[in-house]
Amino acid sequence: METFQSLLEKKLSEAIAKTGFPSTGDLTPATDPRFGDYQTNAALVLAKQRSENPKTIAEKIIAQLDVGEWSETPTVAGAGFINFKLRAAAIAKKAFELCQDERLGVARARSPRRIVIDFGSPNVAKPMHVGHIRSTVLGDALARIAQFLGHDVIRDNHIGDWGTQFGMVIYGWKNLLDGQALARDPIAELVRIYKEANERSTIDPAVREACRQELVKLQSGDPENLSIWKQCVNLSTRDFESAYALLDIHYDIQRGESFYNDRLAEVVDRLLKSSIAEISQGAVCVFFRDIPELADKPCIIRKSDGGFNYATTDVATVDYRINDLKADTIWIVTGAPQILHFRQIFEIARREGYKADFRHITHGSILGEDRKLMKTRSGENVPLRELLDEACKRARAIVDEKNPDLSDAEKIDIAHKIGIGAVKYSDLSQYRMTDYVFSWARMLSLQGNTAPYLQNAYVRIRSIFRKADVAAPLSQGETRRQSAVATEIGEFVLVDPPEINLAKRLCQFGEVVPQVLNDFRPNVLANYLFELANSFHAFYEACPVLKSEEPARSSRLALCGLGGRILERGLDLLGIKAPEKM
Ligand code: ARG
Repeated sequence: METFQSLLEKKLSEAIAKTGFPSTGDLTPATDPRFGDYQTNAALVLAKQRSENPKTIAEKIIAQLDVGEWSETPTVAGAGFINFKLRAAAIAKKAFELCQDERLGVARARSPRRIVIDFGSPNVAKPMHVGHIRSTVLGDALARIAQFLGHDVIRDNHIGDWGTQFGMVIYGWKNLLDGQALARDPIAELVRIYKEANERSTIDPAVREACRQELVKLQSGDPENLSIWKQCVNLSTRDFESAYALLDIHYDIQRGESFYNDRLAEVVDRLLKSSIAEISQGAVCVFFRDIPELADKPCIIRKSDGGFNYATTDVATVDYRINDLKADTIWIVTGAPQILHFRQIFEIARREGYKADFRHITHGSILGEDRKLMKTRSGENVPLRELLDEACKRARAIVDEKNPDLSDAEKIDIAHKIGIGAVKYSDLSQYRMTDYVFSWARMLSLQGNTAPYLQNAYVRIRSIFRKADVAAPLSQGETRRQSAVATEIGEFVLVDPPEINLAKRLCQFGEVVPQVLNDFRPNVLANYLFELANSFHAFYEACPVLKSEEPARSSRLALCGLGGRILERGLDLLGIKAPEKM
């Protein structure tokens, strides 16, 4: 099914071609609804190129535009914008089609890609802290959206399970470990021994040397050190998994840094052989002399002591993903501090001749109320598990207050959906590069651009259907009963502005979802859902559903049903669940 935007776009370029102008300009949603629903600056662009009057060009284009099926006669506004206002009948017709469409108007990508998406990727022997939440939640939402658009997505957890921290962890394990503490809270104990070993090694050169020796032994395959390492990896993985279960995050593969160990020497040899790398002061480096901003920033791929590093692993990762996983697209989601690193890695890949589409998707930080990086009172990183438990606990208080009569099991389930949804949404509704302040009060509010507000709109729709005693669309994929409501009515009867508005919003879903991937911005979808919920509330206030006469009653009910399905699907694409009640 085609969206209004793409239908109008086609007609626009046809019209421009007929006037003999080169095709140009975009068709975008109108910035101000008073002017209509869509607009184009094509006439302005053409006028500038040809030094002609934009309004005259706009009139010429309009004379060729054949859009009467969907739009009122386009008008010229301002300096030469062409505005389109959708006809209510066209909106009703499209909304009716949407009811029948399992994909809710979202077309599949024309050229599906195989995308490896590397997100989350926490580090072993360090807790998964609130800082990892952005990469995890953002990556998951992008993976869901890409998959829904028909791409072949491989979710890879590139955990940090190798590297210099293990010298200290192993030293700590052998000299500082408290077995009982390890049994009680393994991650806390691993972090403690790591920190203590680290502190000691900064003041005591003998400890530093001992840690280095442990690392060398591990890297040369010493069985005892390997076994300690393995135990640490297992303990950490278990901790990550409990967070993933709470968050409903899943990975297709987990290829941590250690997976690439035996490929690293080969990578360095190859880069030396092809002269992409060279030896400089005993280290193997790749220089980017032709790129001004990288000219003084070589990438070290083998240290002068012979050790490999994070960059070596990432070069090997590129090989594996392209040659073994057959990816043509690679997305890596991390915080902004790694921008330089991936700039270098992608440049090396390009020099090696790789043609894949590499994207580093970066994000800002989560701040505490003091606008500094979020920490616990004692200055530690906030463990993710604790944060998620707290979210569910706070959400439970909302459910207890709003709906005290629900069973305990229901309350737990709903509190989980609200709490986790709130944490995810407060992240995803922000532009990913902005640093934002973490605030329980804001994210759990039932008012404003929050998950509970959207979930509440969904709950309201569900309750209308329960009252109507009509089988509503219950879950994704289950469109049959909903279509039944729609086919019963045969068509939508849209009269009042709030219902026309709501229907129009519903028709935009197919325009918004693909747009998220243009610049990896789930906040575009979040904002759309927020506006949809607003349109729904405005409709609900102004237009009685169950108490109105036919045909309005069925038509409005079908509109609610479609609204519920789109809200549910939209939230699901963000990794958020829509509860039946709350
Ligand atoms: N473990 C890293 C960190 O916590 C993120 C890994 C990102 N992916 C990669 N291929 N380097 O910062």
